Amino acid sequence: MIYKVGRELEVEVADVAFGGNGVARLDGLVCFIPFAIPGEKVKVRITAVKKRFIEAEIVEIVEPSENRIEPACELYGQCGGCQYQHINYRTQLSLKESQLKQVLSRIGSLDEMPEIEKIIPSENEFAYRNRITLNAYKDPDDHIIYGYKHLNNRETLDVRNCPIAKEEINDMIRVLKRTPWGYKNAKREKPKAATLRWSGEDEPVIYYGSAPKGMPWRKETLNGRSFRVPLGAFYQVNPEVAEHLFNITKEWLNVLPQPRVIDAFCGAGFLSMGLEDKHVIGIEENDASIEAAKHNALQWGVKSFNYIAGDANRLINKHLRNKGDSTILIIDPPRRGCGEKTIESIQKHKPSWILYVSCDPATLARDLKGICNDGDYKVNKMALLDMFPQTSHFETMVLLEREEKDV
Ligand SMILES: C[S@@+](CC[C@H](N)C(=O)[O-])C[C@H]1O[C@@H](n2cnc3c(N)ncnc32)[C@H](O)[C@@H]1O
Repeated sequence: MIYKVGRELEVEVADVAFGGNGVARLDGLVCFIPFAIPGEKVKVRITAVKKRFIEAEIVEIVEPSENRIEPACELYGQCGGCQYQHINYRTQLSLKESQLKQVLSRIGSLDEMPEIEKIIPSENEFAYRNRITLNAYKDPDDHIIYGYKHLNNRETLDVRNCPIAKEEINDMIRVLKRTPWGYKNAKREKPKAATLRWSGEDEPVIYYGSAPKGMPWRKETLNGRSFRVPLGAFYQVNPEVAEHLFNITKEWLNVLPQPRVIDAFCGAGFLSMGLEDKHVIGIEENDASIEAAKHNALQWGVKSFNYIAGDANRLINKHLRNKGDSTILIIDPPRRGCGEKTIESIQKHKPSWILYVSCDPATLARDLKGICNDGDYKVNKMALLDMFPQTSHFETMVLLEREEKDV
């Protein structure tokens, strides 16, 4: 059959690929269909024909899946933020589980993996995000619009309510333009994006552009205790799921005999706070987060620590050298994954255990392929944490164990 842009045809949806698009197979070609669910029969219109795949949009749902539900957000389908609001939560989780396995096998060539030990759903399917950033756009009449990018990546949608954000954040959307800073921002020729942030123990805040320096640290609540984070610095966006991330890290690492932990990309020390009997070396590029990490370590009773500001990809080597046997390495990089230098240092100095925490399974899989290097490490445990319900994203924890080789 000849596939051309504009052509309409009926297809059966087989899967949902990582990223959120439904997948149908047409004569050996893959057809990606946003907002489709496995098992559905849909009439689609082809929107792009590439060498290896086709893109199409739904024209009509001929036989809907029993897992299809009404989206909660009025902007769903236009907004680039959520991909799964039309799928019931149980199915969202099982899709993420199978996507993780597929991505690790396809990109990471990890075929011998243990079952995912823990799959942690979010307590809140909606109203979980503690921070959102809204783009600012001035329309031709000089009205300022705060919102998310449209799926077409050109327009900004006027967001008055974001169902995945906490209620306190939604209350703040309504006052965005009315604060003195909001007024000032609206007068700028190029208004700045607005970040709205809620923390466990503080008043919610709004800032425009980057976070003002010199603000007091935010007080987050972690397992009922206070944890400090600088206003503009990274903190996990779903605090309820973040507690599971913290507790699993404790559970998996505290039983290991190695006395040293390198917490690379450590932020304010979140993952190492529960490892109080280990000697912790934290590395993070944000100076303010490092100051907060030192404070947190004292408050949380970490007995021996050294939090260092700098590039983790460069500094891991120095702290691993000659100490691989006694070290557990935690890597929790941003979405782009860890750099080649980190992988080279691991290959050279071989820490006994590695805990890789990732918010992007594709870069995780790529990095694991380099780290495992055809048999240097094997996956000991895995967990999937649904930090981002209603979206195609999720958090993964992979505990790697060094393979002892006969010499
Ligand atoms: C996903 S966050 C994890 C933070 C921390 N582990 C936590 O759970 O709160 C990634 C962190 O890496 C930091 N970062 C990004 N690139 C870095 C680099 N090259 N060297 C050190 N830190 C980096 C970011 O500032 C951010 O704090």
